[in-house]
Amino acid sequence: MSEPASKIVVRDVYKTFSTKKDDVQVLDGVNLEVREGEFLAIVGPSGCGKSTLLNCMAGFEKVTSGSIDIDGEGIVGPSRKRVFVFQETGIFPWYSVWDNIGFGLGKKMAFDEKHEIVMKYINLVGLQGFEKAFPNELSGGMKQRVEFARALAVEPDVLFLDEPFGALDAFTRLEMRREIVHIWQETKKTCILVTHDVEEAVELSDRIAVMTRRPAVVHSVIDNPNSRPRDPDDSGCRELKDQVFEILGVERRV
Ligand SMILES: Nc1ncnc2c1ncn2[C@@H]1O[C@H](COP(=O)(O)OP(=O)(O)O)[C@@H](O)[C@H]1O
Ligand SMILES: [Mg+2]
Repeated sequence: MSEPASKIVVRDVYKTFSTKKDDVQVLDGVNLEVREGEFLAIVGPSGCGKSTLLNCMAGFEKVTSGSIDIDGEGIVGPSRKRVFVFQETGIFPWYSVWDNIGFGLGKKMAFDEKHEIVMKYINLVGLQGFEKAFPNELSGGMKQRVEFARALAVEPDVLFLDEPFGALDAFTRLEMRREIVHIWQETKKTCILVTHDVEEAVELSDRIAVMTRRPAVVHSVIDNPNSRPRDPDDSGCRELKDQVFEILGVERRV
């Protein structure tokens, strides 16, 4: 079998934030390769630079030195081909579900074409029948589904997920984890998930990149050998969790 194609290549990336008071060195020579179509999780201690790395990959932050290529080309800035899903949903409270999902498609698109795309993603995320509802009529999980559908409607080829489930209650979080795997399997997007939750990384990803404390590097990238659907309590998942915790230097209490 040939090697899977690289979608994103991060090479020797350094990132320092300069503030009036001092310089904060966040990324300290990060190397990472994201494969086309894979689900990669990035875990690491709080404040180590996970969001910073994601922002650099998405073109929202400039690297101090080093390079990031997507499809073999250097990033020049944000692109509609790469979208973010955040923890706090960014959906507009004064727009219906339909309008929220159609928002990114622009005003110029013909209604029929827009409707077809919006309904496709409403169906994909399981919100059939709610197209006219407003966000205040939806549960937290449903709002998150709208957020996913809105991100997907512009048909990006990379989906960046920055702790997207953090604001949800425990039950909804489990439900949305399943949902994101379903979305990923249906759409075959390259997904990069940042999470501080090792169990989440083990349940969702094909590979896990483990970052060190700040100033951070990617310590290692571990293959996830467990077949889907996964049960985080299975021995394979537990072993992988232990492996990640060990790299993070966290004693795991069972
Ligand atoms: N725009 C910024 N200006 C100054 N410091 C920043 C900025 N963004 C992030 N940082 C600092 O960089 C470090 C890493 O932040 P972040 O990437 O958000 O970490 P993580 O997502 O891993 O929790 C933190 O110490 C944070 O305070
Ligand atoms: Mg963060």
